Amino acid sequence: FNVPEPKNEPYLSYAPGTPGRSGLQAELKRLSSEEVEIPLIIGGKEVRTNSTKPVVMPHNHGHKLGTLHLANNKEVNMAIEAALEARKEWAATPWQDRVAVFLKAADMLTGNWRYTINAATMLGQSKTPQQAEIEAVGELADFLRFNAHYLTGVMSDQPYSPDGMWNRVEYRPLEGFLFAVTPFNFTAIAVNLPTSMAMCGNVVVWKPATSSIYSNFFMMKLLQEAGLPDGVINFVPGSGPDVGDPVMESPQFAGLQFTGSEGTFNHLWKKTAENLDKYHSYPRIVGETGGKDFIFAHNSADVKELAVAALRGAYEYQGQKCSAASRMYVPESIWPEFKETFLAEVAKIKTGDISDFSTFMGAVIDKKAFDSITGYIDFASEADDAEIIAGGSYDDSTGYFVEPTVILTGNPHFKTMQEEIFGPVLTIYVYKDDDFEATLDLCNKTSPYGLTGAIFAKNRYVINQMSDALQDAAGNFYINDKPTAAVVNQQPFGGARKSGTNDKAGSKQNMLRWLSARAIKETH
Ligand code: SER
Repeated sequence: FNVPEPKNEPYLSYAPGTPGRSGLQAELKRLSSEEVEIPLIIGGKEVRTNSTKPVVMPHNHGHKLGTLHLANNKEVNMAIEAALEARKEWAATPWQDRVAVFLKAADMLTGNWRYTINAATMLGQSKTPQQAEIEAVGELADFLRFNAHYLTGVMSDQPYSPDGMWNRVEYRPLEGFLFAVTPFNFTAIAVNLPTSMAMCGNVVVWKPATSSIYSNFFMMKLLQEAGLPDGVINFVPGSGPDVGDPVMESPQFAGLQFTGSEGTFNHLWKKTAENLDKYHSYPRIVGETGGKDFIFAHNSADVKELAVAALRGAYEYQGQKCSAASRMYVPESIWPEFKETFLAEVAKIKTGDISDFSTFMGAVIDKKAFDSITGYIDFASEADDAEIIAGGSYDDSTGYFVEPTVILTGNPHFKTMQEEIFGPVLTIYVYKDDDFEATLDLCNKTSPYGLTGAIFAKNRYVINQMSDALQDAAGNFYINDKPTAAVVNQQPFGGARKSGTNDKAGSKQNMLRWLSARAIKETH
């Protein structure tokens, strides 16, 4: 038995005059003219609580999209119960029948639901139509389809049987329930974490980020409509402690798949250690955290390619990708030409309402993000060893808008060269060409993270030298391309060092983390 051989989903361009554009525009209009009630979904049923929060558009925070209900301990315990109840049938369901739900979901997403999920991601997370299409439709459909394909590969990976015996391996779901904690910045990641675990026969308590709840809720509805049995994935938004603590204290907690901040991941790991004696098994822990992703140019780099990579790598989706380029190393000899080319491109960036369709950057996700990002900009504008050479202004009167900002520093350890900002801010350090090797070493040692990085050079020996010097500095390493936009089944994604456990999203290796192998020997 094989699932259909998947292909990467082609993207719609949403160019003027295309049916996609008018379809998406109509959906944007429909969704933004009504408010939705977003309940919890536990055991397939909608659950409302006394604790609610308005859901607004980041680029127009006066516009309410809906009301979100938040979970407390009681609802989290209900979700755990519902998951364990659902496990009885789900874990015993043949894996092909489980996979069928998610393949259907992928076809619904790329079919009738395409504009809804794209529009919900645009409105709720302030993505441009193109950025939403690439991830909330393309990448998410790819995750669903390729994970099914990887699972086929796992199941067919069987041991040798000499004459007179039959050896086989059963790949079983983990005993207990799993916890998915997901980030705001990609609808694809938010849905991939619970669905990849559920596809393997597990049951899940899913804590989506409240700031991306709008698209995540529509996706939960899609999964239910695709035939996901009640209780297999329970949708439980709420605060970290309100949801996390009862989950981590349950003896049935069997694993965590996480994408978010390093601080939260460390906290959840410590909580697991604290509760270890209670658990029936050793929980599997998979996580992807932050990045301080670099672009390093050699003096043989093509300056135009470098400028495009810096622009797209640093500013697409307002720099809110964990893979976004946020520090850059440029040799002195190409700096004047690069500066002129790059700053001319940065000046052309259009920031504003994403429903305009020609906007390059929308707003940052919320007030907290806005304050944190602008704090870094203020710090740089007041520092003696840095200068803002483009952008630097911001305005949150209508939406949380931050201009694409370029900081130039002569200090390779300047705060914005070292700390994750998660916004449209790129810091550049210009090095002397003779210091090439020492600067590579500096780049390698500047950050505790190791998520993504890009190098630009023409000569193969130089490329090899750069690749060797930075071999543990990035789990996803790009040669002559921007460090963002990994494609499922082409560049499996995950970080080294303090960026996470590097169990690549969208990979056979990741699926194996959610399965427990029983090796069976039967003699005849
Ligand atoms: N996978 C995304 C990218 O490559 C980041 O999470 O940009």
